[in-house]
Amino acid sequence: MELGIRGKVALVTAASKGIGYGVAKVLLQEGARVVITSRSMDNLRAAESSLKADSSFDVTSFQADLTLEDDLVKLNDFISKQYDGVDILAYNTGPPKIGRFADLDLQDWEYATKLLLMSAVSLCHKLTPSMVTKRWGRLIFITSLTLREPRPNLVLSNTVRLAVAGLMKSLSVEFGPYGITSNGIAQGHIMTDRTKQTSEFEAKRSGRSVEEVIADSVKQVPSGRLGTPEEIGNLVAFLASDKASYVNGVMIGIDGGLVRSLF
Ligand SMILES: NC(=O)c1ccc[n+]([C@@H]2O[C@H](COP(=O)([O-])OP(=O)(O)OC[C@H]3O[C@@H](n4cnc5c(N)ncnc54)[C@H](OP(=O)(O)O)[C@@H]3O)[C@@H](O)[C@H]2O)c1
Repeated sequence: MELGIRGKVALVTAASKGIGYGVAKVLLQEGARVVITSRSMDNLRAAESSLKADSSFDVTSFQADLTLEDDLVKLNDFISKQYDGVDILAYNTGPPKIGRFADLDLQDWEYATKLLLMSAVSLCHKLTPSMVTKRWGRLIFITSLTLREPRPNLVLSNTVRLAVAGLMKSLSVEFGPYGITSNGIAQGHIMTDRTKQTSEFEAKRSGRSVEEVIADSVKQVPSGRLGTPEEIGNLVAFLASDKASYVNGVMIGIDGGLVRSLF
């Protein structure tokens, strides 16, 4: 199926590894020109060179810490000069600190708000004007299943990501008339470094091995396995495509059936 995103410019944030990397890879396979960002130039160089193993891939990296507004200003300047704006924002973030409420202090809350919410607000402020001018755009917010089903060790994610869902819905209403869609993805357990970290935390807390924690998580998933970053990429590519032009304002779960609620 031709998705109609060949030549479109996509920004994938927090993409030096894990879910962001998988999303970038799939968008590149669909012919998009992709800018990947993260905090570490070394990690980005490694990601870029591995993606460039396919010589047809048009990928560029730019160092930007999502919690630093100066970095986001520089990123936007780079994109404006190099590409005349972004067509597709695949907004992904670094993971927030793991912890229950009593484990977290106010600085943790402020940092998580910058990381998971304010970076989305800032990027949308910067990137939507050119989408409005072009009468075409895709805003895709990669969040977490914690939106639907809070997890005991992920209080920051449980809380702050709800505001991102509100932002996603608000933007779908405000920018829908300009050919821009705004949607979200609430993924379940995806095999990345982050899954290893959360499993290690839970293993320590419960006195089990990391392997036991992962095996117990998998048991809860009707599909019987963890997801892959590329499977998130496939959903992002569909939402970014012309085929999804009437999908607007929804938060789509992708979790192998893990979350049992219907909505
Ligand atoms: N994996 C799962 O099962 C799962 C489930 C639900 C939700 N999530 C959420 O999905 C997101 C991605 O998770 P993941 O599993 O792909 O994690 P990951 O494998 O640890 O990758 C995180 C990525 O974020 C980048 N990053 C971290 N902090 C950043 C910052 N302040 N600014 C810019 N980039 C930053 C990292 O690159 P650098 O180190 O180079 O900066 C890396 O590329 C996270 O928000 C996570 O909480 C994951």
